[in-house]
This record gives sequence, structure tokens and C-alpha cells, in this order.
Amino acid sequence: MGIAVTVLSCLGKLEAQSAVTMLGIGLACGASSCWKSSEKGLTIMKIVIIHGQNHEGSTCMVSRELAHKMGGEIREFFLPRDFDKPCLGCYTCFKTELSSCPHYKELEPLAAAMLEADLLILESPVYVYHATGQMMSFLDHFGTWWVVHRPRPEMNGKQAVAICTAASGGMKSTAKDILRIYAEPFSYNAGSRRALEKAGFAFEGIMKNNAVKNGKIVDMALYSLTRSLEPYPVRRLSPEEIPAALELCWQVFLEFEAPEYPPEGVAAFRASLDDRERTRQLKFYGAFDGEKLVGVLCMRAPQHIGGFFVDAAYHRRGIGRHLFQAMRRDYGTQIFTVNSSPYAVEIYCRLGFVPMDTERLTGGLRYTPMRFEQGENGL
Ligand SMILES: Cc1cc2nc3c(=O)[nH]c(=O)nc-3n(C[C@H](O)[C@H](O)[C@H](O)COP(=O)(O)O)c2cc1C
Repeated sequence: MGIAVTVLSCLGKLEAQSAVTMLGIGLACGASSCWKSSEKGLTIMKIVIIHGQNHEGSTCMVSRELAHKMGGEIREFFLPRDFDKPCLGCYTCFKTELSSCPHYKELEPLAAAMLEADLLILESPVYVYHATGQMMSFLDHFGTWWVVHRPRPEMNGKQAVAICTAASGGMKSTAKDILRIYAEPFSYNAGSRRALEKAGFAFEGIMKNNAVKNGKIVDMALYSLTRSLEPYPVRRLSPEEIPAALELCWQVFLEFEAPEYPPEGVAAFRASLDDRERTRQLKFYGAFDGEKLVGVLCMRAPQHIGGFFVDAAYHRRGIGRHLFQAMRRDYGTQIFTVNSSPYAVEIYCRLGFVPMDTERLTGGLRYTPMRFEQGENGL
């Protein structure tokens, strides 16, 4: 069984209000309808747990364990037992207030508890790669709390945690179902898009003809952010971060690739890093361990991997795959090429690349041309 814990610190207005958007509650179950102190009771933190299922299985146990470790007053709600209504799509909440929802009588105890809580724990077992239907129905009722609609100031400063368990896979998509922050800039607004990417938002896609601006129908770009316990988050690097990225490329190259290259190959690689005009045209992605840059992938137009290096101390932790997947999300056509060093051929094969030719030697650089195409390798 797998367990995933995703934490959302509701520090900013956008984050806090968006987190709440995803929540909803029903009525408290039996004795749990009032706040109850944990055994530790060291703080007076108010914790609300929304259980995405009725039974007290593994997911329930993990979330209770966390709540008890945090200490404080705990209130629990089980879905669908405590709230079992699917959203009717009547738009009453958007047109007026959530309190006008036809289900508000049932929803109110959960909504009130959430507004009062310091920490929200939303949990769900993975059902068919997503959160349970009852959790999704519950969250639908809070669409109106979305930051672009009627955000609730009470949600500022809250912390939210999503917990999911699975027999095998689907925890990431389930955590995203529960805690997710969206941003929707106009697709032509390169400045906003860049700022979002810098802040760690992942590009999800273009929403065609989604808004009217100055009388014109325009596209919008959809970005999302899930702050998880993902140990090595990946994001696009800013121009100021590129020197550090090039230094990492060089150090990893010296350790793993230079030994297999003739001196002129090593010099050619160094020259490519020093070629400002060339590096200016590359798009860099970085993986981080806290503040430390531990992996770099850079792209050359149109869809060619120009460099792919992970700090030796961080090998075998899935960082390369994570970098590759993050980069792929930015491209519509899923065809990528690379000229792989001898050392990396096997690594690229594991990512789904196939050699297009035997090894070549140009200017002292040994490389194998390789290609990735989505679907070709079942990926
Ligand atoms: C209807 C249903 C669908 C499920 N789908 C998945 C799935 O897509 N992926 C997975 O890894 N586990 C899946 N599972 C297994 C549960 O997610 C897993 O056993 C979970 O730990 C159960 O949590 P619980 O003990 O709190 O009920 C599914 C279980 C059920 C009942």
C-alpha cells in the first residue's frame, strides 16, 4: 500500500482561498460533532478531518495519526455519512451566496467547522486513480469559494493537508483532486505566465476561446500548483539561475562523461557551456533539494534535449524522470530528440528513447542520436 501526504500552506491569499475551494463538509458524526481534544492536547489548534469514505480503514487511521501527532482539538466528518449530496448545478451559490445552496442545511456544519479550523486534513483512498466520488461531490459545493468567485477571508493563514492511500498507483492525481491551486492568465500574457512558472506552477494546457478581452475572444492558459512533499520539486529556471545550472552540468560532466571523451571532446563541451549565445537560447528546467539545485535539463528548439545532468549525490532518486516529465508538459507534440553521451544511453532508454543510429564522433564528442515519441514506447 502507498501513502501520500500533500501539504498546502495557505500563506498567500490565493493559496488559502483556493484550498478552501476544494473543501466541503457535512455534519459531524456522533460524538465527533463537537471539538474533541487529542490525547496530547499540547496546543489548542483546531483540526478538521474530512474523511473521503465512511469506514475507518487505513486512510482514516493515517489521518487520525497525523491529527493526534499535531495535537489540538479534532473534529471529524465522514463522507457520505455526514454529507451525501451531489451538486445540483443550479448556480444559486454563484448568483447569491453559498448559504443559498439547496444543500446548505446539511453543508453548514462542515463549512462552519472548516472556517473555524486552523488545520484541514482532507483524506481519500484512491478509487480508480482519483479521490472518491463523495469527496469530489463534497468539494464541488465549494466552487463558489474559489478565489475568482467569493473567496472567504477566514481561509487565509490556514494549513491544509491531503492524505491518500492506494494499493498501487494514483496518489498524485488524487492529491491534486483535493488540494489544488489554479491560475488562468490570458495565453498571450507572457509576463504572467513566466511569473507563474517561476513560482512553481505547472502548465496544464491552453483553454481555447475561453474569455472575452476588449471585445475579442481569447485563449487562456491553465496553470496549477500542488505543493506536495515531493522531495525534489522541478521548475523552469530564471536567467539568473542559469550560471549555477551550467556549473552543475560541468561538474557532472567531469565526473561521468569526461573520462570517456578525448581532451578535445572535453574542451568542446566546456566551450558549449561558455557560449553565451547558445545558452541564451536554451530553456532550462531545474530540480531542487530545498534551495539547492540538484538536477538540470535544458531544451534547444524545436524539441531537442541539449543537456541533462543530475548531481551524483542524487542519482537513483527519480530526479531525471521527474525533470523529463515536467519538461514534457510544456510541449504539445510529444517527440523529443537527444544526442546522448555514451554514459547516458541506458538512462535515455529507460525514459523511452530509442537509438536512431550507432554512436558517432564529432569534434571529439561521442554521442548516439536518440528519439522519443509518445505512444511509440507505450509511454
Ligand atoms: C472502487 C475502488 C477503486 C480503487 N482504485 C484504486 C486505484 O485506482 N489505484 C490503487 O492503487 N488502489 C485502488 N484501490 C485500492 C484502495 O485505494 C486502497 O486499498 C486503499 O488503501 C484503501 O484505503 P482504506 O483502507 O482507507 O479503505 C481501489 C479500491 C476501491 C474500493
